[in-house]
Amino acid sequence: MTDLPASAPAPDTTDIPQHIAIVMDGNGRWAIQRGLPRVAGHRKGVEVVRVIARACAERGIGYLTLFAFSSENWRRPKEEVAFLMRLFTHTLEREIGNMQDNGIRLRVIGDLTRFEPPLQRQVQRAEAKTAHNTRMTLTVAVNYGGRWDILQAARRCACAALKAGRLIPLGEADIAKHLAIAYAPEPDLLIRTGGEQRISNFLLWQLAYTELYFADTFWPDFNAEAFERALDWYRGRERRFGLISAQLESPAYSAKAL
Ligand code: IPE
Ligand code: IPE
Ligand code: MG
Repeated sequence: MTDLPASAPAPDTTDIPQHIAIVMDGNGRWAIQRGLPRVAGHRKGVEVVRVIARACAERGIGYLTLFAFSSENWRRPKEEVAFLMRLFTHTLEREIGNMQDNGIRLRVIGDLTRFEPPLQRQVQRAEAKTAHNTRMTLTVAVNYGGRWDILQAARRCACAALKAGRLIPLGEADIAKHLAIAYAPEPDLLIRTGGEQRISNFLLWQLAYTELYFADTFWPDFNAEAFERALDWYRGRERRFGLISAQLESPAYSAKAL
């Protein structure tokens, strides 16, 4: 299957993002500033997740995707990595009821094969339990890397070709449908807290036309008001997808003046 997405019409967008992705950064620095161990920042960060997830659900945002642990975060001191794994397990255990009550479907993306089998099973159970919820999809990216995602999608395409016993010309849609988050539209808005202005190997493929919002606030200090400011900023953006402003105002516009 081939496709020419670059010639496809620009996507329909609205003032409210359908999908928000967040790089929750700054936990460690938040803690150090207070003379606390870095892990205290991670613990506080979980409370903020609850606040922001609620704010998204209340505004009718269909997809919220949180970067919780990158494929590069294994390089951190092993005590911090172990703490983050325990925090993930405990939070999953504690929040599942809440997600059920609030109609939230949980999905976890990333290379889960690196996790202990009990944690893998816990993730599967949580996903299965919330699979029928429709209000909002909360995706948590753990041991996730954008390059890993593109690579695993390409491998799956290659496997399909192998099974078919012939070369299949690849289109963007073939890769896209095998990405870990294929069930969601591409993010409209990416928020990164903590002052860094980089992607850090998050959703590389899917961020091609996402609006990027960087906040200096450390994630544990991020709150409903700060989130509202990000949404206000988003409302003020003109998303052109390669077009020019006049075409957005009038789809029938043709540049007669040229
Ligand atoms: C983000 O906060 C959380 C994870 C990467 C798990 P950091 O732990 O990166 O905090 P800083 O950037 O060191 O302050
Ligand atoms: C990105 O934060 C990953 C997560 C928030 C989970 P990092 O703190 O790991 O990013 P870098 O290393 O500063 O780019
Ligand atoms: Mg960081």
